[in-house]
Amino acid sequence: MTPLEMQLKARLADGSSMPFSSFMAAALYDREHGYYSQDKARTGREGDFFTSVSVGSVFGQLMAGEFCRAWEQLDRPASFTITEAGANDGQFALDVLTWAQAHRPDFLAALQYRIDEPLPGPARRQCEKLAAFAGKVSHDATAAVAQGCYFANELLDAIPCRRVRWSGGRWVECHVALDAAGEFSWMEKDPEDSALKRRLAWLGTGFPEGYITEIAPAVASQLRLAAGQLNQGYFFFADYGYPALDYYAAHRRTGTLRCYRAHRAHEDPFDHPGETDLTAHVDFSLAAQAAVGAGCQVLAFLDQARFLTGVAAPHLQAMEASGVPNPPAWQRQFQTLTHPAHLGQKFHFLVLGKKVEHLPPLPGLSFARHAAIPDLLDPVFASPDDEDA
Ligand SMILES: C[S@@+](CC[C@H](N)C(=O)[O-])C[C@H]1O[C@@H](n2cnc3c(N)ncnc32)[C@H](O)[C@@H]1O
Repeated sequence: MTPLEMQLKARLADGSSMPFSSFMAAALYDREHGYYSQDKARTGREGDFFTSVSVGSVFGQLMAGEFCRAWEQLDRPASFTITEAGANDGQFALDVLTWAQAHRPDFLAALQYRIDEPLPGPARRQCEKLAAFAGKVSHDATAAVAQGCYFANELLDAIPCRRVRWSGGRWVECHVALDAAGEFSWMEKDPEDSALKRRLAWLGTGFPEGYITEIAPAVASQLRLAAGQLNQGYFFFADYGYPALDYYAAHRRTGTLRCYRAHRAHEDPFDHPGETDLTAHVDFSLAAQAAVGAGCQVLAFLDQARFLTGVAAPHLQAMEASGVPNPPAWQRQFQTLTHPAHLGQKFHFLVLGKKVEHLPPLPGLSFARHAAIPDLLDPVFASPDDEDA
């Protein structure tokens, strides 16, 4: 039994229950025993899963070029802040700052890099990794900055979600309790949380009996928080997920909750809590709607393949013109990041702007389809009557 399992079972021993979001919050973020609090590699070959950052430094280098372009679009302000949330071990920040130092010292001179990190353990590791850029990096991400970019890769999927089931013509919320043998089990209750109830009402009715899904009102809160941290600039959220129409499609009957341990995926969130990553796909409609409500504009929603190909296009053209090919490692990483069978279609970029409507689009938006935005923001769900027709 993991230490966290003992702790959670002791909490539930009096017959009480907790919403799944509380269980997930403890499993990932308990200050002592949570998955992200411990001093262990979580991503990459030695960890439990790969992210675009752990593929290699090309992801950070490409994003650094995009941030630099954003700085240029905004007329090269003397102070430009990148805020990163969900920075894990700080590798992405290191890749961005190293690229700026090598290629655009003028950009580096204007740059401040803020990391929004709720856990002390990861914050310490980020400081160690970024020691060479100590003067550029801070962990104070509360105040709003004037101009900059906000970036989060695989943050939203790690935000604790609630789990619900359509049962007998209504939604019930799945709580975690203990069964007679003292093992974790599901207990269903009427939804009480007001944000959850609002989202369920928005989703409508007519789901197949036993349909399970996840809803993460905390994703909306995170987007509102992000929107308040930047007065002018761009926001990039990269993650796996779908617009609501796809997320809540009738065929997706068992939800998107997934667990990762040592590169093995499974669907039992009660297995080794604190040593297993728990994640749910992102409802990008919820994220985009919250951002718009908080004063942002949706600039694009597109898969990672299209986004990064747009970002890399100027670089690829320059390489082609020079006749010098990209190093093989660069090509391998770029292919892993963009190939549909690897990360290219699994991951999407939600790109938001604040007070940038008057500026030309960033390179990453070159292959975006504007028609995707209304479906994202204002999906039209089929009513039960339509489905019967
Ligand atoms: C899946 S990891 C992110 C992976 C990383 N960005 C990468 O690409 O390798 C999730 C990270 O989000 C952080 N995190 C969780 N909730 C957060 C919040 N509300 N604000 C900022 N960071 C958060 C965790 O501490 C953890 O470092």
